[in-house]
Formats: sequence, structure tokens, C-alpha cells
Amino acid sequence: MRARPRSTESPQQQRDDRTPAESPRTDPHHDWYLRAGVRSAPRRVLTDELAAGQLFFPPALVPYLDHPLVRALPADRRDELLARHLFQYLSFTAHFETRVVNRATDSIAGGRSGIGASAAVRLDAYRIYCDEGYHSLYSFDVVDQVSRASGIAVLPYDFTPFLRRLDAIGEQALPDAPALAQLLQVVVFETLITAILNDVPRDGRVLTVVRDIVRDHAKDEGWHHVFFSRFFRELWAQQDSEQRERIARCVPDLIRASLLPDLRPVRTALSSAGLVAGKVEEVVRDAYAQRRVDDGIRAASRHSVRLFQETGVVDAPGAHDAFAAAGLLP
Ligand SMILES: [Fe+2]
Ligand SMILES: [Fe+2]
Repeated sequence: MRARPRSTESPQQQRDDRTPAESPRTDPHHDWYLRAGVRSAPRRVLTDELAAGQLFFPPALVPYLDHPLVRALPADRRDELLARHLFQYLSFTAHFETRVVNRATDSIAGGRSGIGASAAVRLDAYRIYCDEGYHSLYSFDVVDQVSRASGIAVLPYDFTPFLRRLDAIGEQALPDAPALAQLLQVVVFETLITAILNDVPRDGRVLTVVRDIVRDHAKDEGWHHVFFSRFFRELWAQQDSEQRERIARCVPDLIRASLLPDLRPVRTALSSAGLVAGKVEEVVRDAYAQRRVDDGIRAASRHSVRLFQETGVVDAPGAHDAFAAAGLLP
């Protein structure tokens, strides 16, 4: 596996780190009906591991857990923070899959994306739609199971501000093409490279139910990555030069908005762990320092950026400067 900086990833960054392989459409060995998690994996159920002291989440993937002010908290409060990071990751996933990925995937599957797509591509889009719906289901299922068994309440989480921020970028850059902007959001997200899907299943200290669903998810996302990389090449080929320029200028902002850590739930979790407002801000400022965040964004977006380099997006007028200004180029 590739080396990467210590994680400052927000849950939305913590996606897949697989190398693209053959498309499921063209790979004769891939059979979605046999291999997709929704078709083949059992429901994952929490066992009695909480009593044995298994962890809710790998501590190294929680950027603030090592901060002196957090280390000084009682052990049960630190456990709660781990649980809440898990809840936040899974809650974000449950919303994101259905409200962002499936919004665009539905338009591809239904032939309404504005991009000419063959029947084979549309069938794969319907398969991905099923996958993502199932990812939402088991994400929420595990939040519910773990919260009930541990007695740690799930804090309220509103996904809408994140979605509004993401949509605003497309609305500004591509006001006449909202469907296209939504496709770009998904291409960006589905080609990100992050740590969690690989690292969580390998950490034997973490609850088996958590490791199992993350492993199941990683398996599906491997071929989603391939699908959306190929889909973007087709999308790009079908645009005129004026539209290409607009797309190229908006992609860096989409990447950054997608990967900027969402600090609202972090602040809420730290407050409920017992830190006063000033200390919450100190932890957030230290754990999410600009340079660390920028390094994390650059690392997580490197496959996406490579795709945009290979397809010529970065060569469009003004695009190179926009990618550089967003800190996305090495
Ligand atoms: Fe997914
Ligand atoms: Fe996906």
C-alpha cells in the first residue's frame, strides 16, 4: 500500500485506495450478481466484543485524539470520541451515498445525464445505485447497533450544509448544466484515494462488525472507481471547448469542497466530551492546521488529479493555475 501522511481526513475523505483495474463491464471475471456486497455478503452484526475492550475506530484515523487536551480527558470520554467519529463517518456515508452518489448515478442509469451512455453503462449504473443504497443501509444499521449496545448516544448531524456547499460550486460554474455539475461531484468523490477503507479492516483492535462493513464497502468501491474514471473520459470527450473550460475551472473547487474536513461535528463531539469552547477551538486549530489539511487534500485527490491530467482537463485555459491555486499539484 502507498505511503501517506498521518490522517487528517474527514469522513468524506475516507474512501477508497484501490488501483484501477479492468472495468466491471469489460472484465470477464467480474460478475456483479455474485460479487457485489449487496448480493453476496451477510448482514454484519455486533457480537459481545464491546465487553472485551475492542475499539470503535482506529485512533490514528482521528486527527484530534492525540492532542494533549484530549489525552487529558478520562478514558471513557476518549472512548466516546472514538465512537462518535465512527458514527460521524457512517452517518456521512449513509447520507452521501443516497443524496449525492445516487442522485447522479440515477441520472446515468435512467439515460438522463446528458451524456450518451450505452445500455451496458446504464446497467452498471443501476448496479452501482443498488450498491450505494446498501452501503447507506448497513452504515446506519451499524450506527444503530453500536449506539444501542454501548449506550453512547448519536449526536444530531445535519448533512444539508455540506451538500449546499458542494452544490453551490456547480451552480456558480455551470449554471445552465446542473446535471453535469452533479456528475462531476460524483466523479471526484468516486476517484478519491484515502486511508480508511484499507486501514480499518486491518486493525485487529477494532470491532469486527466495523471492520467487516468497511471491507465490504472497499470491495464495491474498487470497481466504482473504475466505472467513474471511464465515465469521465466519455463525458469529457462529449464536451465542446467552451464547456470544457468551465468544467476545468470548477473541478479544483469541487475537490477542495469535497475534502475540506467538516468541523461542525468535530466541535460538537469535543464539547460533549467535556471540553469548554476555548479548548475545543484550540484542539481544532491544532489538529486541523492549514498545512496538514492541505497535505491531506493533495494526498487524497492524487488519483482524481491524475485522471484530470491524463484527460487534458488540467491543460484547458486557466485550469493549471486553478489546480495550483487549490494546492492540488505536487
Ligand atoms: Fe459506496
Ligand atoms: Fe461508490
